[in-house]
Amino acid sequence: MNNKTKQIFVCNNCGYESPKWLGKCPSCGEWNSLILQTITKEKNLSNKTFTEPKKAKKLYEIIANETPRINTKSQELNRVLGGGIVPGSVILIAGEPGIGKSTLMLQFALRIKSIKSLYVSGEESESQLKIRAQRIGGKGESCLILCDTSLENIIKQIQEHNPDIIIIDSIQTIQSENVDTYAGSITQVRECTAQLIQIAKEYNKPIFIIGHINKEGAIAGPKVLEHMVDTVLLFEGETTHPYRILRTIKNRFGSTSEIGIFEMHTEGLKEIVNPSDILITEENENLSGTCISAIIEGIRPIMIEVQALVSSSYNNFPQRLANGYDLKKLSLLLAVIEKQLNIKMYNRDVFVNIAGGIKTTDPAIDLAIVFAILSSTYDKPISKKTCFAGEIGLNGEIRPVQRIEQRLSEAEKMGFKKIIISKYGLKGINLSKFKINILTVGNLKEFNEEFFS
Ligand code: TYD
Ligand code: MG
Repeated sequence: MNNKTKQIFVCNNCGYESPKWLGKCPSCGEWNSLILQTITKEKNLSNKTFTEPKKAKKLYEIIANETPRINTKSQELNRVLGGGIVPGSVILIAGEPGIGKSTLMLQFALRIKSIKSLYVSGEESESQLKIRAQRIGGKGESCLILCDTSLENIIKQIQEHNPDIIIIDSIQTIQSENVDTYAGSITQVRECTAQLIQIAKEYNKPIFIIGHINKEGAIAGPKVLEHMVDTVLLFEGETTHPYRILRTIKNRFGSTSEIGIFEMHTEGLKEIVNPSDILITEENENLSGTCISAIIEGIRPIMIEVQALVSSSYNNFPQRLANGYDLKKLSLLLAVIEKQLNIKMYNRDVFVNIAGGIKTTDPAIDLAIVFAILSSTYDKPISKKTCFAGEIGLNGEIRPVQRIEQRLSEAEKMGFKKIIISKYGLKGINLSKFKINILTVGNLKEFNEEFFS
């Protein structure tokens, strides 16, 4: 070994570096994860700086030149990116294998005809890609395909063909000569990402990097990737449902609460511009245990169906299951129901499901969850023309939620006759302009009596 190479032990789980071998990684606690790696300093491109050394400036001396964003021709993709692609940005598309990341990106590359794109696949062969492209449709006149895993060749091809947008599918299959470990190892993933980021910044071209995540949600094992890129979009959904959600996790150029909704078809992904239409079942019959909530995801109001099933439990520990909702929050709501409404829950199994495999963190769904549970417990249906929006406090109080007017308008637009909201936080809101019947309540106690006694 000469002085231009160095040998270190790197944790394959979190990227921790150590000069000597350790059985347990002191950073992430993983056993047997440290692997010996040789790093060639000379070749290590990611350590090089392409630009002149920077000088500190006063803020007023800096001229902000807003470069126009690239329109992706997809309303949903534009939305999650904060209004289109920022040139020179690096976007990570993360998701579990089989969720549709390749489909999403290939579809995008094939449909933006005015922009020259380079789709690099380290996972599929040219003919596999051709078949996939035929399924999706679109000739892809301006889309170049490269099936390769060598980072050096990918960079050469970028320099040769000068595409406007580059897509790397996936980062776990790409390998750089600078690092002597296998593709997908943390050092490879980190080195390749670092070099791609430099290319993006140097040529001012956006690069989409696809990254697989495991069941626990860790991106490529290494969390480091998330810190390196400008934007992280998480593509999620249940493979058993056709709906897929593209969620902004991090965005240096926009809001992080945005979502884009898609539906997987045999001919690729279809955008769902009006999600309320599909998230409510159309059965006319009113069934007990279902309840509709007016939630807000990102900037969009969505009407969504909540289902609950409450049955007698024959276990010492009653079962609680929540799909699309936080299980701890469900336990909390059950405790509130038990204490405030005096309904015994300890001997009942409770299952809660949010329609369409959607996961939400909007607290406004609490009220609908409580009413779906009560409806199932009493076996009394709630009218499908009624919807709910309110957060539940520990004392059973119904707390106001943000952007109530938007929720009221959406409920009205979707043909609901009645909406139940908190009586608090309504100062300055003109409820009389809405045609929908608005019922305002302060506490679960007063409300429960009216509906179910
Ligand atoms: P894929 O994009 O390969 O997922 P990922 O890149 O995230 O691993 O697509 C996954 C699934 O989508 C696959 O099981 C087949 C299905 N699919 C469709 O239903 N319709 C289509 O048009 C395409 C291309 C794929
Ligand atoms: Mg793929």
